[in-house]
Amino acid sequence: MVTRQDCEVFVISISAEGIKPFLDSPDIAENIKVYPIIGSTNREAREQAVRNPVHGTVIIADCQTQGKGRFDRVFFSPPGSGLYMSFVLFSDIMGFANPTAITAYAAVRVCEAIDSVCDINMSIKWVNDIYLNRKKIGGILAEAITDSNSHGAVKIILGIGINVSTKTNDFPEEIRRGVSSLYPEGNPSISRNLLAAAIINRIILTDAPDEREVLSRYKERLFILGSDITVVQGNKAYEAKALDINEYGHLIVKMKDGQLRALLSGDVRLEL
Ligand code: BTN
Repeated sequence: MVTRQDCEVFVISISAEGIKPFLDSPDIAENIKVYPIIGSTNREAREQAVRNPVHGTVIIADCQTQGKGRFDRVFFSPPGSGLYMSFVLFSDIMGFANPTAITAYAAVRVCEAIDSVCDINMSIKWVNDIYLNRKKIGGILAEAITDSNSHGAVKIILGIGINVSTKTNDFPEEIRRGVSSLYPEGNPSISRNLLAAAIINRIILTDAPDEREVLSRYKERLFILGSDITVVQGNKAYEAKALDINEYGHLIVKMKDGQLRALLSGDVRLEL
């Protein structure tokens, strides 16, 4: 648990001014807000999307006291060593409203951004986890909102959390075995400003991306295909083999009895 006090003692080194020189289009900087401390950037982005919806709004925080992941899990968000950002995106501009497709799109773009900046090769664990060397480095949390003023148009709150230089021993003990960061020794050779810009440049588009191409690139990075996995849905868990993804990004698994099943959501685990 990150407390407000943990956040307050840290000198902020991520800023809109620091990100701006690396942006493909400097105009985007107008819609970037960086906070030293926040509860959750997704929550703040949601509030802004209702108050003053602007496609391409980016909320970034040095530290989150209530960072959230899927299934209401906590996303550990200490100061100075992670990238915590949320986008407000309009589904009619992005071209898709299906949360699985948005998540796949974001996961691919985040991996491509990290690969290019850090010169590594990131992988994805279905459906939203960003992995390196079979450890979770980050995650995506996509939420869709409609409000009475928007005539049914959907806005997407796309949250991205990356452990950049969090040291292994700084993670809470209960998650330490499965997580890591891009620079687990705590000495990053890249700045969070550069990484943030690389992600922003790839996420905010003015034209809809080709959904089929996104899914094909997503599939190339899915390291669980062909592996035995445990599927967790609610309070049920069962063994299966991960085979493929379909055109909606759903995971095709083979059950122990030979039946095939397409998973729309849920969580998968595999032995580390
Ligand atoms: C997951 O691992 O299940 C998704 C994690 C998403 C975390 C990011 S950090 C920025 C944004 N704000 C949040 O509260 N969550 C997302």
